[in-house]
Amino acid sequence: MNDSDDIRRAVAVLRAGGLVAFPTETVYGLGADADNPAALRRIFAAKGRPEGHPLIVHLGDAAAIVDWAADVPETAMRLAARFWPGPLTIVLRRSGRVRPEVTGGQDTVGLRVPAHPVALELLRGFGGGVAAPSANRFGRVSPTTAAHVREDLGDAVDMIVDGGPCAVGIESTIVDLSGPEPAILRPGGVPREDIEAELGGPVPLRVEGPVRAPGTLPSHYAPKARVVLAGVAEQAESLRALAAAGRKASVLVLPSSSREAARGLYAALRDLDAQGCDAVVASVPAEEGLGLAVADRLRRAAGPRGDAAGMGEGGT
Ligand code: TXA
Ligand code: MG
Repeated sequence: MNDSDDIRRAVAVLRAGGLVAFPTETVYGLGADADNPAALRRIFAAKGRPEGHPLIVHLGDAAAIVDWAADVPETAMRLAARFWPGPLTIVLRRSGRVRPEVTGGQDTVGLRVPAHPVALELLRGFGGGVAAPSANRFGRVSPTTAAHVREDLGDAVDMIVDGGPCAVGIESTIVDLSGPEPAILRPGGVPREDIEAELGGPVPLRVEGPVRAPGTLPSHYAPKARVVLAGVAEQAESLRALAAAGRKASVLVLPSSSREAARGLYAALRDLDAQGCDAVVASVPAEEGLGLAVADRLRRAAGPRGDAAGMGEGGT
């Protein structure tokens, strides 16, 4: 675990343009000073992630929203008041402060106040915005422990602040409020139902497809176990078929509570990988509460036909 000395050191690293991996309640983030273009470019290099993929700016206080967004609709104030600090990212039209390295040149910015005490102490000590994607190599699932970050990023990061395992375990819900109507761009740690209750009406999902054009993955990308989706009743048959095809296959066992399933999902996938499985049979949970986000991640991992791609391809 860490103490205030670690956090002071982490603040100094951020001020010097370094990279700090830090815990949030969702997953670990790979942070850099959002006002420092050289530091921002280091994020993409460390992850092996293509530039032009926008980063979320993490803030220590909801009041800072006006520094980063050009206009803040009343709906944003409502969601911020209800869910921040917490696993919600709000996309708004960006202010002039926001660097093009953060947005990939788009005119919107994603903002979030995380709920983890270590993250908040770091952000408040730093004072500015911390741009942070999940602290995994591009193509891997997000890290939910400091050990996962070390495995993926090792020396590419200047400091890893250990805050224990992440309580939510799945990334934040992204709500786009930059257009005329709200939309959910990524289901995540705040259930869709809670957002709809707060906004007083249905909020459509506008989720990017899981497929990336072939050939856009970096050449260092190592194939990992493929994820095969099967109903609970078909799991055994699926396992037999994979074994007959010479695969080392396992069933992904998740707790029935969607909150517990979200918390354990990424660690379970990493464990199966570490055991040398090259195929994972998984069942999509009911798409209620956090089940919607768990189902989304499993579908992305499985690829368009549920059997075509490596599980890593969903990871950004
Ligand atoms: O829980 C989380 O959101 C974690 C923790 C560290 O905060 N962060 C995270 O970051 O998952 P990342 O970069 O791995 O995923 C952020 C997603 C990306 O798919 C990105 O395209 C989207 O957010 N995003 C960021 N800014 C956006 C914007 N202005 N418009 C649309 N999508 C945006
Ligand atoms: Mg990511």
